[in-house]
Amino acid sequence: MNDPKTNAAVTYGTYLQVDELLSLQQPRSAGPEHDEMLFIVIHQVYELRFKELLHELDHVRRLLTGDETHRAQHTLKRILTILKVLVAQLDILETMTPLEFLTFRERLQAASGFQSDQFRQVEFVLGRKSDAAIARFPEGSRARAALQKRYSEPTLWDAFLHYLAREGYAVPAEQLARDPIEPIQPSEAVQQVLIEVYRRDAKIAELCERLVDLDEGMQEWRYRHVKMVERTIGTKQGTGGSTGAGYLRTTVGQNLFPDLWEIRTRL
Ligand code: HEM
Repeated sequence: MNDPKTNAAVTYGTYLQVDELLSLQQPRSAGPEHDEMLFIVIHQVYELRFKELLHELDHVRRLLTGDETHRAQHTLKRILTILKVLVAQLDILETMTPLEFLTFRERLQAASGFQSDQFRQVEFVLGRKSDAAIARFPEGSRARAALQKRYSEPTLWDAFLHYLAREGYAVPAEQLARDPIEPIQPSEAVQQVLIEVYRRDAKIAELCERLVDLDEGMQEWRYRHVKMVERTIGTKQGTGGSTGAGYLRTTVGQNLFPDLWEIRTRL
């Protein structure tokens, strides 16, 4: 079938908009410095992957809401595979030495991954919401609108708790009516439910394990990112204005779904 806009036959280039895609890598350094291309491409690839992750996370939330456990598991597996690739990609950037980064770092001015709204959107879906993250983006921007929309939406954890309740588990009413903008706090009653799930229901326990994989996968990314930052800029301040590695270390090791971790000692 021909392209409906131009009536020309669809090709690889037109379907994927390759010309447009290849015009988007615009180094800011004079020369330009050799390593800036790597830096730009890696970040652009991350943004595309974040887009795909959000697409899949929305899907898995919908599938859970529709009680489609098998498809939810399948989609979670895809999400986890993407996350593995996101972590592995840091290896490529780690081939850039501190001095190579310094050849163009000043050109970044205040730009930083800190300002990736899609990363914040992923955090919001997973229950780490923050007003401050929204306020950093200008009124009327795509980023701010996207974050505002996700701010009030139920998190993946909320969808999971409702799913458990529909499966007949005694999830407390206050957990089901939880305000999705609030942080996910450990709950003894939810832990009791999860212990029962693990002992009695291999299918749902498997789903829980995939959520733990997701939690661990995000933490793996944070850990690898901060190590990369340490080896590239040491303890220098970040371009985004934070203390750099010091700030990033505070974000490592925080569980997204605390109840799923708490129960392990008691199983
Ligand atoms: C040489 C490579 C990199 C360096 C030196 C670096 C450095 C930093 C620093 C210092 C911060 C803290 C905020 C700030 O003050 O700027 C930060 C945050 C962040 N960076 Fe990177 N980064 C690098 C590569 C990447 C890549 C490839 C990504 C992928 C998108 C990324 C995503 C992020 C995100 C999402 C944050 C916010 C983390 C949070 O607030 O929890 N960074 N980065």
